[in-house]
Amino acid sequence: MPSTRSLPRASRHTDKPASDWGLFVRGFIKHPAMVASIVPSSGRLIRHMLDRVDWADCKVFVEYGPGVGTFCQAVLDRLAPDAEYIAIDPNPDFVEHLRHKIRDSRFTLIQGSAEDVRQILKDRGYDHADYILSGLPFTTLPAGVGDLIARETAAALRPGGAFLVYQFRPRVRNFFAPYLPKIDHAMEWWNVPPAQLWWAWKE
Ligand SMILES: C[S@@+](CC[C@H](N)C(=O)[O-])C[C@H]1O[C@@H](n2cnc3c(N)ncnc32)[C@H](O)[C@@H]1O
Repeated sequence: MPSTRSLPRASRHTDKPASDWGLFVRGFIKHPAMVASIVPSSGRLIRHMLDRVDWADCKVFVEYGPGVGTFCQAVLDRLAPDAEYIAIDPNPDFVEHLRHKIRDSRFTLIQGSAEDVRQILKDRGYDHADYILSGLPFTTLPAGVGDLIARETAAALRPGGAFLVYQFRPRVRNFFAPYLPKIDHAMEWWNVPPAQLWWAWKE
């Protein structure tokens, strides 16, 4: 039997699945600007962020940057049986991990970028999303990408829907405020580091 040392990295990963924590840290080391954090969101942050969603009126829930799936089970626990949850992340390691971790017929995983949210919705037969959740590191994305994502998000939401955003840096608000100016804000201190939470409503 060959020693694991002689095997390519991907083979070693399939032998023993990476822990969420280990994979997240590796994701940060490989793509610091895209992941921009070494600690996944806390349970308190997740509950706080999702508390404002009207789950009875949510048929299409989108998440940008699910990473290792910190929000996934909490969203699925609240989501109606006939609703769909579309998660979009460009990182192939996170996507591969989530494909094995989340097995729920309401969950659709797309390896891609949030910039393409409207095309992704259209491909699934939807005109709009009800809610879009984002932990995207807007301030470290390539120039122009954050603005494009904010604009596309506003166009993708239905009236009455909301863009749910959590980030550490207050200036992230500047990206989406021009397109979604009706904003509620809160702090979640029980997180490393404490996070800003915004609910930006489509009027
Ligand atoms: C700070 S991590 C958030 C991880 C997770 N949601 C959490 O709460 O712990 C940022 C995530 O955004 C993803 N990301 C970066 N650029 C993206 C883009 N253009 N579209 C969608 N996701 C992106 C990264 O791959 C990473 O999974």
